Amino acid sequence: MSVKIKSAMVHPAKKLGGSLEVQGDKSISHRVAMLSGMASGTSTIRNFLASEDCLNTLRAMEALGARVFSGDDGVLHVQGTGGKVLEPVSTLNLGNSGTGMRLLTGLIAGLPITAELTGDESLCSRPMLRIKEPLEQMGARIELLGTNGCAPIRIHGGGLKGIHYTLPVASAQVKSCILLATLFAEGRTLVVETMETRDHTERLLREVGIPVKVEGLCIELEGFGPGGPDIKAHNWQVPGDFSSAAYAMGAVAGRPGWSVTIRNVGLNSRRAALLDVLKRMNAGVDVEILNPKEEGEPIGNVTIRGAELKGTVVEGEEIPKLIDELPLVAVLGALAEGKTVIRDAKELRVKESDRISCMVANLQLLGVPVVEVEDGMEIEGPAELASSAAVRSYGDHRIAMSMAVLGLYAGSPVVVNNIACVDTSYPAFWNDLRKLGAHVE
Ligand code: S3P
Repeated sequence: MSVKIKSAMVHPAKKLGGSLEVQGDKSISHRVAMLSGMASGTSTIRNFLASEDCLNTLRAMEALGARVFSGDDGVLHVQGTGGKVLEPVSTLNLGNSGTGMRLLTGLIAGLPITAELTGDESLCSRPMLRIKEPLEQMGARIELLGTNGCAPIRIHGGGLKGIHYTLPVASAQVKSCILLATLFAEGRTLVVETMETRDHTERLLREVGIPVKVEGLCIELEGFGPGGPDIKAHNWQVPGDFSSAAYAMGAVAGRPGWSVTIRNVGLNSRRAALLDVLKRMNAGVDVEILNPKEEGEPIGNVTIRGAELKGTVVEGEEIPKLIDELPLVAVLGALAEGKTVIRDAKELRVKESDRISCMVANLQLLGVPVVEVEDGMEIEGPAELASSAAVRSYGDHRIAMSMAVLGLYAGSPVVVNNIACVDTSYPAFWNDLRKLGAHVE
């Protein structure tokens, strides 16, 4: 029987630094699992993120008829359905993953099957009306079986038509849901964003030969009809996850003399706005792109050099480009001189937890002066961190990891409770922190 360790004690760090390669990107791993599962033939996936979230998506693709083998070399082999999917015999459980649930709902909505999706308590409290609306406009029937427009979701797929849809929220998950559904629709879909969000789906579709046209904030995709596109098996290489790498960057950013180099990390400009924030805050940032001439996802090496940080304002169009890093920005704000303001980030309230109120509560437990506002927070630093504090993860991986980073800067050990959630996105997190010189029990 394996026993999951429930909490971590993070000791104040004396010196941190080194070089690290983080595991595969979570967003991209979900998407390549889905595209490989729909392809004809066997795809290979190198550096697939074997975290709970992405494994749940893989299992869902198996339930639709794909077959998954993991090679001795760590490479994943996915024998796709070639578009001839099975109707799942039982409910598909996506665990904690909004990406898994929202993107799969889109994909399944295009298929002539009925399927039910569910998830854990957190996922079943997140808004799903945002995908029901466009998918029903396309012709699917989507039943939200939970309360207040939440999962479980029953999807009656098939018979879709393209739509013209302006996204009411800046969400790559909603955009991707609609694009995946469009693959099996008649006619053309035009999705209009109000702000740029991560474009992994658009890039990956192009990589398998599906023409996605992007002009400014408009994304256009021609449907292939009920038979769907003929996706050929592909050899995928998943870049390192920028959002995971961000914790190592945050771990060294606040102290002059500390530095880290992250190798082979994804540097999609719609994901990497934390680098701009770090620069504004005074940290040293060097970026080397390793594949400047290639299409697809940019990959590179990033070096962060710690500094006396100063406060900054993070708002507007920058928000979707660092949405998952905002809890960490709050931590950096606690270390920085002056005020750090996060605003226009109301979406944080409907992530794996309400990341505004949870971060505010944790920062307050450590004695950080912070004011909660509806769409963000204001943090006054540098804070004198309270000694021997314990903070909560609220079952949210990004809260747990952000607070662990802050613990490295405390005067005495900080306990982060309920850390099993870290495995949903970054099972190697604690080991990677240790590789940088952190003492974590
Ligand atoms: C994701 C998009 C973001 C992000 C999430 C992953 C994706 O969500 O927060 O962790 O893979 O498309 P929204 O697009 O809903 O903001």
